[in-house]
Amino acid sequence: MIRQKIVAGNWKMNGSAESIKNLVDGLLKADQSNSEMVVFPSFPYLHLFSTLCGNSDLIKLAAQNVSEKESGAFTGEVSAAMLQDFDVKYVLVGHSERRSIYGETDSIVALKVQSLLKKNFTPMLCIGETLEERESGQTLSICEKQIQAVLDLVGIEAFNNIVIAYEPVWAIGTGLSATPEQAQEVHCGIRSFIAKSSESIAQRVQILYGGSVKASTSHALFAMPDIDGALVGGASLDAEEFLEIVKAAG
Ligand code: 13P
Repeated sequence: MIRQKIVAGNWKMNGSAESIKNLVDGLLKADQSNSEMVVFPSFPYLHLFSTLCGNSDLIKLAAQNVSEKESGAFTGEVSAAMLQDFDVKYVLVGHSERRSIYGETDSIVALKVQSLLKKNFTPMLCIGETLEERESGQTLSICEKQIQAVLDLVGIEAFNNIVIAYEPVWAIGTGLSATPEQAQEVHCGIRSFIAKSSESIAQRVQILYGGSVKASTSHALFAMPDIDGALVGGASLDAEEFLEIVKAAG
């Protein structure tokens, strides 16, 4: 099964109108490729980003978060319906920073996935273990538990429209990437877990790796059979570095 690779840049809470103009200028210099380039700017810059991209479909626009609620008195939140006013394709859910800093539980993450699917977005579901969990041999069971909560709410068929991003918490922003072999082992385990519900969906679902991905480490990661791309934080803030990662994805 050939799965298209995705290289996604999560800009987190970084950038200004000025710096984003420069970054998008740089990204629009990319050659056409077989992989999909995706960028997650902060909410205030979604419109600017679309405008800067004009008619180019080189970069897919994505959002970093969504509310699980439909509308109403939820100050500071952004609904899936609001995101429909932008050309957004993917939305991050369950990023470890949302889980650990903002207390998002597995059940909130599942509700967010559900609200996105209702509006035809593709949730990018982030999962991953802490260092302590890895050291106590719980890596796969944590990933499975995080996926199971979503499966229980939306069912296996929904995974036709969900992308999974495996991001070990200990690798995020630390410069300490999982080795290609470590990542492959977990990706293969995640795919086998999905296969228990549907072999065909398991073969189709794209599983990205995230955590200190750099241009220099991306080739070896992408050579692994179950790694279908990358979710990149820090290195996505540099257009040249990010484009090298996109190039490595082929
Ligand atoms: P870094 O690439 O900076 O480690 O961040 C990874 C990440 O959290 C992407 O969502």
